[in-house]
Amino acid sequence: MFSGKNILLGITGGIAAYKTANLVRLFKKSGANVKVVMTPDAKEFVTPLTLSTLSENPVHSQFSDEKTGEWDSHVELGLWADLFIIAPATANTIGKMANGLCDNLLLATYLSAKCPVFVAPAMDLDMYEHATTKSNLTILASNGNKIIDAKVGELASGLVGKGRMEEPEAIFNHINNYLKEGLTLKGKNVLITAGPTFEQIDPVRFIGNNSSGKMGYELAEAANRLGASVVLISGPTKLIATKSIHKIDVISAKEMYDAVHENQKTADIIIMSAAVADYTPKEPQKNKIKKDSDNLQISLKSTKDILASLGEIKTDNQILVGFALETNNEEVNAKDKLVRKKLDFIVLNSLNDKGAGFGFETNKITIIDKNNKVDKYELKSKSEVATDIFNKIISLLK
Ligand code: CTP
Repeated sequence: MFSGKNILLGITGGIAAYKTANLVRLFKKSGANVKVVMTPDAKEFVTPLTLSTLSENPVHSQFSDEKTGEWDSHVELGLWADLFIIAPATANTIGKMANGLCDNLLLATYLSAKCPVFVAPAMDLDMYEHATTKSNLTILASNGNKIIDAKVGELASGLVGKGRMEEPEAIFNHINNYLKEGLTLKGKNVLITAGPTFEQIDPVRFIGNNSSGKMGYELAEAANRLGASVVLISGPTKLIATKSIHKIDVISAKEMYDAVHENQKTADIIIMSAAVADYTPKEPQKNKIKKDSDNLQISLKSTKDILASLGEIKTDNQILVGFALETNNEEVNAKDKLVRKKLDFIVLNSLNDKGAGFGFETNKITIIDKNNKVDKYELKSKSEVATDIFNKIISLLK
């Protein structure tokens, strides 16, 4: 859920600040990038050194560096964050947040942030019960902030009552649940193929292609971020998928065909981004072929077209997406594949576009759907392209 997410933790001056070291660890362990912004008083309760060590990032607390005079941009920090969690949030900080005051870096960052903000209050029970605190929290909630209510327990004053900051594990779970609920593809099964296939000629040689698998892996990561259950059937690549993605490794077109058909029935969305070999040696040799003549001919037979076979059995509720990598007559060829393989849409890459296709970190696509709607996209990172493809899929689900 948190993999690759940018989490900004805002710490203010309350005793519960010492617990935030654990919160940083929980987010880091779950794969998030973590940065910390502290109010000057927070440093009395937990050291910046502890937090910078755990977060593996410098801690931010002043508008400018004392030694160099360099400005620490609260604007950049606020925009960097995918989620901003202010824990503990003292009555003082809550009051300032509710009224737009920004006399420290944390508050200025809060005003610059565009992401969801979570506030975990912590203070003594009477402060928590005070009408001003209550109305400030109401203002924060009505401005769209998410309040993680304080708990009843023993407080720093020795009194027992409501005002303890929620425990780090509970804050972590709260945010985890929030992310899960916002997931558009929650409950959907997505099947994606990626990478090349290798067709064995003899024990040491094969016919392969230059596909890196990057586009398919980015699609799998995007589906995973959107909350889907993802099966990724991958030809030989060097890439690693996030743990929650169920990855099935295959080598040949035949193995890919079998794995796809074992998993297609339960799939709501299928994307064939693999570069599947169209031909395979008729008779792969058991022993290494010896160099005993000037000419060598290898007889090939065609492989089964996996995508076309899926088009034949596709149900009304399934979305089927194919790729077409073309060098000439791009749109005409892609439209032909779209119809022939009974797809909902096809993603066209042209090898004539700079930065598109095999081996690049970027891609430039055109999506053609079965109603002949053609959408051309700019050159983008493959991760952004994956988002564009899922936006198209989500529009079809609606
Ligand atoms: N595909 C497949 N099984 C094959 C060959 C291709 O599932 N044996 C899929 C690819 O994953 C891709 C789409 O079909 O989604 C188009 O692949 P492409 O190689 O561009 O087209 P082909 O149908 O193989 O036609 P050609 O090679 O003649 O362009």
